Amino acid sequence: TERTIQVIRNRIRAVPDHPGPGVVFRDITPLMEDGPSLHAAVDALAEATKDLDYDRVISAEARGFVFGTALAYRSRKGLVLARKPGKLPREVISVSYELEYGTDSLEIHADSIPPGARVLVADDLLATGGTARAMCELVEKSGGSVAGCAFLIELAFLEGRKRLSDYNVVSLINYS
Ligand code: PRP
Ligand code: HPA
Repeated sequence: TERTIQVIRNRIRAVPDHPGPGVVFRDITPLMEDGPSLHAAVDALAEATKDLDYDRVISAEARGFVFGTALAYRSRKGLVLARKPGKLPREVISVSYELEYGTDSLEIHADSIPPGARVLVADDLLATGGTARAMCELVEKSGGSVAGCAFLIELAFLEGRKRLSDYNVVSLINYS
């Protein structure tokens, strides 16, 4: 409900000038530290994705794992870990994406997503969309399909949705 969303929103702290001048960082640590708020946030994300048909969840380190794990646990689906380069021990597939300065990449194990699997992309926050887009590409490179993308927070002014225009995108809390 709107009331629940307001309770969650009140637990997100705006931190001016982090990590640099002019940036307002949306800090979710107070939300995570409060039991009822964390519970409500996960339940609200689960509710927003309940009609999506998926076999697996994918999320990226580190904050993304919190919500990816919670959604996977709640829906009894498996979780695929998208990690920074060099962390995974076996054969990987890799996708690179643009950062403000330079590029980064995300990897999953080459056998993490069976061909034909439908995968829910989950993250705490949608900013430029680079991270989520990379996860979508990892899913598709593996022969799977993206069932949808779910975020607790969307920084709408960064227009990350434009980079995810091929996909069904849901978010709970919007900052514009
Ligand atoms: C943050 C956030 C998202 C990503 C969104 O993670 O958790 O995964 O940025 O930004 P984008 O839409 O512009 O790609 P970050 O890379 O800071 O990693 P962390 O969770 O380890 O702090
Ligand atoms: N808050 C948290 N994480 C982020 C942000 C933000 O404002 N922008 C990009 N990642």
